[in-house]
Amino acid sequence: MLSIVENDLGTPAAASTATVTLEIDGQSVRVPEGTSVLRAAALIGTAIPKLCATESLEAFGSCRLCLVEIEGRKGYPASCTTPVAAGMKVKTQSGKLGQLRRGIMELYISDHPLDCLTCPTNGHCELQDMAGAVGLREVRYGYDGANHLAATKDESNPYFTFDPSKCIVCSRCVRACDEVQGTFALTIQGRGFDSTVSASQNESFLGSECVSCGACVQACPTATLTEKSLIALGQAEHSVVTTCAYCGVGCSFRAEMKGEELVRMVPDQNGQANHGHSCVKGRFALGYATHRDRITTPMLRKRIGDPWQAVSWEVAINHVATEFKRLQARYGKHSIGGITSSRCTNEETYLVQKLVRAGFGTNNVDTCARVCHSPTGYGLKQTLGESAGTQNFDSVALADVVLVIGANPTDGHPVFASRLKQRLREGAKLIVVDPRRIDLVRTPHIEAQHHLKLRPGTNVAVLNALAHVIVTEGLVDEAFVAQRCEGPAFAKWRAFVSRENNSPEALETETGVAAADMRAAARLYATGGNGAIYYGLGVTEHSQGSTAVMAIANLAMATGNIGRVGVGVNPLRGQNNVQGSCDMGSFPHEFPGYRHVSDVAVRESFEAAWGVPLHDEPGLRIPNMFEAALDGSFKGLYIEGEDIAQSDPNTQHVTAALSAMECVVVQDLFLTESAKLAHVFLPGSSFLEKDGTFTNAERRISRVRKVMAPKAGYADWEITQLIAQAMGYPMHYTHPSQIMDEIAALTPTFAGVSFARIDELGSIQWPCNDAHPLGTPTMHIDEFVRGKGKFMLTEYVPTEEKVNARFPLLLTTGRILSQYNVGAQTRRTPNVLWHNEDVLELHPFDADERGIADGDWVGVESRAGDTVLRARISDRMQPGVVYTTFHFPESGANVVTTENSDWATNCPEYKVTAVQATRVSQPSDWQRRHQAFTEKQLDLLGPARPAAT
Ligand code: SF4
Ligand code: SF4
Ligand code: SF4
Ligand code: FES
Repeated sequence: MLSIVENDLGTPAAASTATVTLEIDGQSVRVPEGTSVLRAAALIGTAIPKLCATESLEAFGSCRLCLVEIEGRKGYPASCTTPVAAGMKVKTQSGKLGQLRRGIMELYISDHPLDCLTCPTNGHCELQDMAGAVGLREVRYGYDGANHLAATKDESNPYFTFDPSKCIVCSRCVRACDEVQGTFALTIQGRGFDSTVSASQNESFLGSECVSCGACVQACPTATLTEKSLIALGQAEHSVVTTCAYCGVGCSFRAEMKGEELVRMVPDQNGQANHGHSCVKGRFALGYATHRDRITTPMLRKRIGDPWQAVSWEVAINHVATEFKRLQARYGKHSIGGITSSRCTNEETYLVQKLVRAGFGTNNVDTCARVCHSPTGYGLKQTLGESAGTQNFDSVALADVVLVIGANPTDGHPVFASRLKQRLREGAKLIVVDPRRIDLVRTPHIEAQHHLKLRPGTNVAVLNALAHVIVTEGLVDEAFVAQRCEGPAFAKWRAFVSRENNSPEALETETGVAAADMRAAARLYATGGNGAIYYGLGVTEHSQGSTAVMAIANLAMATGNIGRVGVGVNPLRGQNNVQGSCDMGSFPHEFPGYRHVSDVAVRESFEAAWGVPLHDEPGLRIPNMFEAALDGSFKGLYIEGEDIAQSDPNTQHVTAALSAMECVVVQDLFLTESAKLAHVFLPGSSFLEKDGTFTNAERRISRVRKVMAPKAGYADWEITQLIAQAMGYPMHYTHPSQIMDEIAALTPTFAGVSFARIDELGSIQWPCNDAHPLGTPTMHIDEFVRGKGKFMLTEYVPTEEKVNARFPLLLTTGRILSQYNVGAQTRRTPNVLWHNEDVLELHPFDADERGIADGDWVGVESRAGDTVLRARISDRMQPGVVYTTFHFPESGANVVTTENSDWATNCPEYKVTAVQATRVSQPSDWQRRHQAFTEKQLDLLGPARPAAT
C-alpha cells in the first residue's frame, strides 16, 4: 500500500562501511558496498519502477519491472537484485526500457480487475501507480483470456481480506511472513500462470498457521490483502503517530483517522522499538476503545449491593473527596491509598502517586508491577544499581547466544520475538529454560540448542547450577570481573556457587533437568560469544523471584556479558508501561527515579516542589492493603486502570478485602471485576483519547498522542487532578507535557526528557540528562550505575508450595498471543476467535491417569480454591505440570493461585501452585457464585447496562 511505499528505497540498507561510487543517469552517487542499484537510484531521488521490491524485504527479482541498462553488461538486469559496483554506469530510462516495462505491466493489468474507482486502495495502490509510471495506455492482450478474476475471496480472518483476483504473485506477502514475522505461514503454490498465494496447506487464513500480525497486509502492493476496516471506512484523512497500549515492546503506530474515527493502525516504519512491524493486538485489536460495554458516565452507590446511580462529574468527584476525607478523619491518615496502573501513561501514574503522597499525606501507593516485575526492580538494583533492563531491542541482532528463561516471547512480546527469530535464523544459538515447550523451542528454521525443561519453582537452582559450571570449569571472564565488580562480593559468590550442592549433578533431581544438559548450556552461554539473557514473569513470579533476578545478573557479570551491544540482562515487561509506572514512583517506598522515601535530601526536594511535608516511611504494598482492609484499618482505595480482583492471586481473599472497605473508587473503561466491588465508578479514557508517554521494556519513552476526544469527557490525568483539587491539594496542569516537565525537574535520570525532545528524537531511552542528552541505549558501559557490580549470594530455597498426595500436580500460568492480561480489552475484540476461554493444558500421561479426554471439563483444586476449565491435552507439558492462562474472569485461574510471594517484594508466586485435576461435569461453586454475582452487578447498572451483555 502506498502508505508504506512513501520513502520506500526498494531494498534494505547494506551493512558495509566500505563505499563504492557509481553513476546513475549521469549523476555520481556513493553508497555502501552491497547496496542495490535500485536503492542507490532511490537515494538520489530517481524512482525506478518496481513491484516486487520493498525496503523491508530482501530483493526477490520476480516482477522484472525495475530493469535497467548497465554499460558493458548484456541485457536488462533487475536493479533490485543487482548490487552496485565501482565505476558502474546505469541508465534507468530509455525507449527500450519503457517498452519492456509497459509490456510487463500489460500482462499484469490484463489479469487484474479494472475496478480502481471502487477499490478500497484506489489512489494508494502500487500497481496503479506503476501503470501510471510506465505510461501504460492500452492493454493489447484484452481482458478475455485466461485469468484469475473469478477467484474467491478469503474473508476468514476477522481483520483482513484476501482477494486473489487482485494478486500479482509478487511474493511480498510470503517474504514478509518469512523474513519479518518469522511464521512461514504463506507459500506460492503452483507454477507459472497457476501460481497462487496459499496460507499453510491451502487452508483459510484463519485456519492456517497465520498469527494475524498484518505484515503481509502491510507488504502487499495491491488490494489483495486489505484491512476490513479500510474497506468499510475508506481511506483515512490524516494520521497521528502514537504508541501501542498493549505489551512492553511499545510498538509505534500511525493511527490513520477519518475525523474522530479510527480507520486502521499502521505500524510505523520509523518506530524505534518495532521498525514497522506489529502483532495482532496492536495492529488490529482496537475495537474495545469504542465498544458498547464502555461506561461513560460517573456512577455512585452506597453499598456494593445497591443499584448504581449515574451522576455528574462534579457530584462524583466531590463524593470521592468527601468520602476519603471522612475516612481519614475517622480512621486516620493512612486508612486510604491508591493503586496506579501500568496501562496508564507516565504522567497519569506520576499524578496518582503524587495525589496519594501529597494529597492524601500517606505513602500507601502501589502498582500492578507488584504482581509482575517488582523483583526485577529489586534484583537489578542490588546487583547492577539500576532497576531496568540493560539493552535496546536492536541489541539482539549482535547476540550470539540467547538465553530465554521464564518468558514466552512469541506470545507475550511478539514483535521482539520476530526480531529474535531473525537473529536465530542467522545462526545465533538458543537456550530455553522453561517448564513448558514454548514455541521458540522448535519453530520454522529454529531449534533451541538446549531446552532445560525444569520443574516450576526451581529457577534459582538451575541458575546456580549454570553458575557452578562457569566457575568450576574456569569460564569466568576474570578480567571483566576484576575491573568492573566488587572483589570481596565476587569471592564470596565464587565460593558459594562452587559448593557441591550447587552442582548440576546435585540439583538434577530437584530441577528435573539432566546435569549434562545444564553443563552444556552453561558452557554455551559462557563461551559462545555475545550472551544475552531475556527473562519474564516465569522468573519473577516466584517465592524466590528477586533471588532469580540477582542470579541472572550474577551470570551476566561473571561472563562479562554486560555493558555492550549484543549482551545484557533484559526483562521482558508484560504491560505497556510497567517500566514507566515503576519509574514514576508507584511503589510505596520510592519516589520517582527509585529513591527511597527515607532519603532526606530527596524527600526535601519533593516537599519543596509539592509544597507539603511528606511521610518518611514506606506505605502499604497491595497485599498489605488487603490485610489491613480485613483487619479494619484500611478503608478507602483509589484504583486507576487496574483490575486487582481478577489479576491478583487468591481472588476470594482480594474480593473479601475490597468488600471490607468503605469507599472503593475504580477508574476504568468497563465494569471490571474490581468495579463490581466498587462504590464509585469514574469512567476512564483509552490511550487513543489522551496525550502522554509510555516507557517500554527498553526504557524507551515514547509519545502517546490523542486522536479522539475522551469518551467520558476527561482523560485519566484530568480526573486525578480533579480529585486532588476536591481534596484541597492544588494541581493545575493544562497539558501532560507540564507533568513531564515536573518529572524531569525532580528526577535526575529524566532530567533531559520533555515532550519537545521526544518529538525531536522520536523516542528517548532513559537515563537522559546532561551526561546522556540523546538517551542511553546500552547501560553500564564503562561502569555499573552503582559503580562496581555486586555479586549477590543466591541460596536456593525450595518454595513452600509443594505437591503431595492431595495436590499432586504443579499449576503454572502464562499468556497467549491473542489475549492480553485480564482480557478486558482483547475479550472485546474479534481476537476471541483465536482464544475464547482459558483452558488447562496437561500432559497425556496425567490426562490418561485421570481419564481426562481433550475438551473435557476439569476441576482444578488447590489449597486456595477451585475452578473448572476445559482440558487441552498437550505434549508441550511435562508430566506432573499443568498450565493455564488468566484472560477470562469466569475461568477463575486466580481463585486457585495462592498468597505465597517473593521474599523481597511480595510479588505473588503465580507460577507454582500445587493442584489436583479431576474430570467433572459442572462449573465450580465459585464459578456459579461468580456468574450470579456478575449478573446481579450488571442488573445494578440499570440503564447503563450494555444491551447485549
Ligand atoms: S497477495 Fe499481495 S503481496 Fe502477496 S503475492 Fe499477491 S499481490 Fe503480492
Ligand atoms: S498476517 Fe502475519 S502471520 Fe499471517 S500470513 Fe500475514 S505475515 Fe504471516
Ligand atoms: S508487540 Fe506489543 S507493543 Fe507491539 S503491537 Fe504487539 S502488543 Fe503492541
Ligand atoms: S522490483 Fe525488481 S524485479 Fe520486481
